[in-house]
Amino acid sequence: MDSKILLDKFAERFGSADAEVFAAPGRINLIGEHTDYNGGFVFPGAVAQGIMAAVKPNGKRWVRAYAMDLDAYCEFDMDDDEGPKTTHFRYIYGVVREMMAKGVKVEGFDTVYAGDVPLGAGMSSSAALESCFAMAMNELFGGSLSRMEMALVGQATEHKYVGVNCGIMDQFISMHGKAGSLVRLDCRSGEFAYFPWHPKGYKLVLVNSCVKHELVGSPYNDRRNSCERVAKLLGVETLRDATWEMLEGVKNQVPAEDYMRAKYVLGEKDRVLAVCDALQEDDYETVGQQMYLTHEGLSKDYEVSCEEIDFLVDEARRCGVTGSRIMGGGFGGCTINLVKDEKYDAFVAEVQVRYKEKFGVECKVIPVVIGEGARRV
Ligand code: GLA
Repeated sequence: MDSKILLDKFAERFGSADAEVFAAPGRINLIGEHTDYNGGFVFPGAVAQGIMAAVKPNGKRWVRAYAMDLDAYCEFDMDDDEGPKTTHFRYIYGVVREMMAKGVKVEGFDTVYAGDVPLGAGMSSSAALESCFAMAMNELFGGSLSRMEMALVGQATEHKYVGVNCGIMDQFISMHGKAGSLVRLDCRSGEFAYFPWHPKGYKLVLVNSCVKHELVGSPYNDRRNSCERVAKLLGVETLRDATWEMLEGVKNQVPAEDYMRAKYVLGEKDRVLAVCDALQEDDYETVGQQMYLTHEGLSKDYEVSCEEIDFLVDEARRCGVTGSRIMGGGFGGCTINLVKDEKYDAFVAEVQVRYKEKFGVECKVIPVVIGEGARRV
């Protein structure tokens, strides 16, 4: 992304080019899916793609925002309790309101922004948007929020203004990402550790099914509700504290669907730990096997996959890819694939041809580059 294009557009729209530029990334997640709101571990990394915004205070109490990619414009009064109707602009409105609630002396601003995270690909374009504006407001209006506090602002925006009861993974990594490193986050304690990611002989690549994943109004919240019902019955705060024995003990007292959801979460807990061990040994074959198992769980027990994504994972297996699974919240979006260097070219070529043959639409291959977290540019 090029800040010059943004600043030119800003000058064209708002009459001056002296805005400041901020950026925040989308993310990948190696393993640990739907574990964040269950108090478990996740293993994300920031990507090179993200949102970039030119922002300049306007001395008023309103925000004027132009989304370049969508060619959409919105103005809203920061002190209005309702805010804009369009979901897209509600992300910005939510961040403004939550930053104000945290005591940051936010004032009105003008902004032009754009992004290169494919929308609806499960790469957290919305967290990138939230983090970018949280960072901008913190810097421009003398805020002193920590990165974790800004991540929580983004999460609260999803919960209160958009209606997605997401966990903390996406906003956390958009704020804390470091080029070249994945991060293991304990979502219960908030503790995290960077893991340099240089898997010798392997590459990570995403394949975007181009089935638009949309968590707003999706059964994402239902999944979370199922997990919380089971946790409540077990008398634990989150499924992080549940054991297999405990779950089997209530199997006949919970709806079959809730049982399946919890079964997936417990399995994923074990898989994340297995991956952590395997990474200590540079054992990427085990990492890959666990990724396939995660996919099976997400597809059959958590039921957040779809025909197109299952096809992409089957194709990966057929091409000898080391590990493949649906990534992110689900219901479409991308697969994440761990591929041996020597199998890479054949895989990306074949998967594109076969997907087109089967579904009549193109899938998109996105090589993974682990990038930086939110920043002033
Ligand atoms: C979405 C949510 C995250 C997380 C993932 C699934 O990306 O925003 O909090 O729950 O789904 O792992």
